[in-house]
Order: sequence, then structure tokens, then C-alpha cells
Amino acid sequence: MRNSRITGIGRHVPDRVITNFDLEKMMDTSDEWIRERTGIQTRHWVREGDTLSGLAYNATMKALDMAGKKPGEIQFIIFASLASDHEFPGGGCFLQKKLGIPGVPAMDIRNACSGFVYGLSVADQFIKTGMYDTILLVGAEIQSTSLDLTTRGRDVSVIFGDGAGAAVITPTEKEEKGVLTTHLHADGTFADKLWADAPSVNDNPRISKALVETDRIYPKMEGRFVFKHAVTRFPEVIHEALAAAGYTKDDLDLVIPHQANRRITEAVAHQLQLGMDKVYSNIERYGNTTAASIPIAISEAVEQGLIKENSLVCLASFGAGFTWASALIRW
Ligand code: UT7
Repeated sequence: MRNSRITGIGRHVPDRVITNFDLEKMMDTSDEWIRERTGIQTRHWVREGDTLSGLAYNATMKALDMAGKKPGEIQFIIFASLASDHEFPGGGCFLQKKLGIPGVPAMDIRNACSGFVYGLSVADQFIKTGMYDTILLVGAEIQSTSLDLTTRGRDVSVIFGDGAGAAVITPTEKEEKGVLTTHLHADGTFADKLWADAPSVNDNPRISKALVETDRIYPKMEGRFVFKHAVTRFPEVIHEALAAAGYTKDDLDLVIPHQANRRITEAVAHQLQLGMDKVYSNIERYGNTTAASIPIAISEAVEQGLIKENSLVCLASFGAGFTWASALIRW
């Protein structure tokens, strides 16, 4: 039996930085409210001409560089995102074109904030069975172009940022190394607690002039409801991974939770009885980048030396669906 390992990790965010003060000019909000309620100070938003596959490509090239691999060595692309460059096909195909590797399979995963951990679990299975030896897993998101930038949409719009993270996943024969266990969950009962209602295939026609004048096209969230579920599901799914691999929270070197809200991350640390030095947070600089948040955080934590050879790292996510997931990794 072989395990899968992340041997390359990279990130890329657009260079346009949006401060809370910039948002104050667009809607009735304040730097104080955003910092207190979310911890966010800045986020990166795309400018005209940026593309989702472009962000993903840049992150991918950094991950490949770290892994010492070339695009031609990729055997499978897993692309986690709510979006694509266009309505269809999926973003993995646009990334594959940019990488110049026609014929390589490209699969999209639309599990929002859990997309990267879901993708890691899929990659892990393909590596374990021996089907592939080099898998590219990307979490990439452009949220800024979908937001209601008026006061009506302020609860959601101040949170989200754009960006991409990429991981190159390869096998290891050492059974104590790499991805030790993954755990995936979903509960569609709460799909409408965090979603964009339209465009919907249930509308005929799917897109009309009348529709674009409604607020159905914007992402919406019942913030407090989502918050309450998040602070329960994060510790639960982390404990699930620890128990499955025979570890306790004291064995952990680092927890990387999806960056949803600084208060959620602090609540997770509190419930696990871990210091904030063991629970990674960068939401102040990026906001919530959905599927990109975990790989961006891994890439920073590796660079900062918080993750090194043999570190025990737990990834955990919660988001739209609802979906939640965890992965325990021996680096
Ligand atoms: O990534 C996927 C998972 N996502 C999450 O886990 C997010 C979970 N939810 C949250 O992070 C928080 O619920 C939010 C940050 C979205 C909102 O924070 P909250 O503390 O739950 O605020 P709230 O929605 O209960 O609103 C409190 C007040 C309201 O005013 P009233 O009714 O008390 O007068 C809102 O209208 O804050 C108001 N408000 C704002 N004020 C200034 C909401 N958004 C804003 C804003 N600026 N941007």
C-alpha cells in the first residue's frame, strides 16, 4: 500500500488589494465592523483581464517548481472551485489548456470551501490504487465579480476574496508519511443557507432581463446559522481524523482550518484546547477565498517553517452545501 504526499505547493493572488476602507466607499460598512466581526483587513480582488485559470496556472507553476516537476508530468488535474472561466466547461479544462497538456484528464469539484479537502481525498484514492503517480490539485476562486456591492449585500461581500492554491501530489512507500486519513461529509438540508439561487436550471428561460434585476443572482448567507454549524463541525471532523489515525490533539503540530472568519478559527482553537500558534490564520490578509483558502494557507505555513518534515498537520473545512471535511497529513 502506498500513501500520497504533497510534494509541491504554491499560491497566487491577484495584485489588486481591497481594504475595508475601500469597501466603506461602496456600501454602508466600516473597517471597525469588518475587523471585529470577521478579522479581515484586506483581500485581493481580480482586475479586468484576470482569469480563474490564470490564477490557477500561476499557483500551479510554483507548486510544480517546488516538486521539481514539469507540466508534462501531470497525469490528472483536480480543479476545486465554485466557478470556471465560463459557464461551462469546468475550470480544469481551461487550466489544462494553459498548461499545454491535452489528453490529461481534468475533473472539477464544486464543493465550495471543502473543495480542496474533497479533492485531496480523491487524489489520495487514485495514488493509493496506483492509477496515477503525479496529480495536480488546485483550489481556485474568483468571488469578487459575483458580489452584491451595495449595502444590501454587505454581510457577504465584505468577506470574500479571490486567489488560488495548487498542490502536486505524488506517492510515497513510507506508510507513516503523507495523507494518513480523510473524512468527507455533506448535508444538503442546508443548501439554501449559503448559496446563489440563480441562475437556476429550474427557471425557463434560465436567464432573463427580469432575473438580473432581482437579488437572486447574488450569493446569500444566513451568517449566524452558518457560523453555529461551522463551530460544531470543525472540531467534530478534526476529532474524527485524529481518532481514525490513532492520534490526539496534543500530537498536532498545526491545524489549517478553512479561513471563514477569524472568530470561527478562534472558537475551533478554544474547543480543541489548542493555542492560536497551532491553528493557522491568514484571513486578515485574504478574506475568505473559498476553495483556495486551505492551499494558500498550507503554502504560507510551509514558507514560514510552521510545516516541516514530519509535521502532523490537520486540514479542516466547512462551507456551502453544507459540506465539511478533514485530512490528517504527516508532512
Ligand atoms: O466560508 C463558508 C462558511 N462561512 C462562514 O462560516 C461564515 C459564517 N458567518 C459569519 O462569519 C458571520 O455570521 C458574518 C461575518 C457573516 C456576520 O457576522 P455576525 O456577527 O453574524 O452579524 P449578523 O449577520 O448577525 O449581523 C449583525 C448586524 C446586523 O445589523 P442589526 O440587524 O443588528 O442592526 C447587520 O445588518 O451587523 C449588520 N451587518 C453589517 N454592518 C456593517 C452585517 N454586515 C455588515 C457589514 N457592515 N458588512
